[in-house]
Amino acid sequence: MRHFLSENDLTADEFRAIIQRGSELRKQWESHSCEVTLPQRVLGMIFEKSSTRTRVSFEAGMTQLGGHAIYLSPDNTQLGRGEPQADTARVLSQMVDAISVRTFSHESLERFSENATVPVINALTDLLHPCQLLADMQTYLDHRGDISGKRVAWIGDGNNMCNSYLNTARLLGFHLCFACPDGYEPDAQILANAGNHASRAATPAEACTGADLIVTDVWASMGQEEEQKARLVAFEGYEINTEMMALANEDALFMHCLPAHRGEEVSAEVIDGSQSVVWEEAGNRLHAQKALLEFLLLHAQ
Ligand code: CP
Ligand code: NVA
Repeated sequence: MRHFLSENDLTADEFRAIIQRGSELRKQWESHSCEVTLPQRVLGMIFEKSSTRTRVSFEAGMTQLGGHAIYLSPDNTQLGRGEPQADTARVLSQMVDAISVRTFSHESLERFSENATVPVINALTDLLHPCQLLADMQTYLDHRGDISGKRVAWIGDGNNMCNSYLNTARLLGFHLCFACPDGYEPDAQILANAGNHASRAATPAEACTGADLIVTDVWASMGQEEEQKARLVAFEGYEINTEMMALANEDALFMHCLPAHRGEEVSAEVIDGSQSVVWEEAGNRLHAQKALLEFLLLHAQ
């Protein structure tokens, strides 16, 4: 039984196999011929933070695979009335085949997984967002082939997405050049683990120069709403705009996990422009996570 709490829970070969299967599943979906590989399987989905993409992709994905997904939040379960997460993990393990969890602290997700006897999937923590990386890497593969040896620029906050990019750079063998304001760096341990697969640029322009893929995310993540004003000041000059894209390689792609703020971390011209693949990236959440569910429920048992 395997959990997916971090990119590092997969080997590079497993990661590649999942995104390749995600591409296959996308083609099946486009031709209205989805295989039913998980009949009667049930996914419990705990969301302690808001979600559009993650919730809908898991729920639609389980239905397409022949199974079912149940949305659970602190507002509509005993979690909101203080039932311990460990007890919830034990109880749900008696009823469902896998559990996805979106929560704040990564440690609490780890504790939850220690008490679960079915696979637990990280649906986003303050530290990591590995499901998004499956979709992003599938999107790169579909457009440009293998990402190993490529140069990826991360511009903005050293947040959960940046940390996940650092883990994936090491795993899949690309270079992540990041530009973050002082005080908004990625997790020090994750950065150290990335070794020579990561480097810090002095400016966003330096990071974008020669990039094959430029990625950014919101400046204030869920749970940081009160810092929003201060962050607008701290991140001045970090917008990905056409001047920034012009520094990258000619065939560079732009990605953003969404939701996005046009006029803050990205200009409307870039996110709605020809180098942006954000809609396919969002759509691939469905296909990559279906491939992940097959991996955890059929192949990694
Ligand atoms: N990118 C992402 O995880 O989106 P949601 O917050 O809408 O799930
Ligand atoms: N960094 C963002 C990602 C949202 C999908 C957040 O944690 O809110």
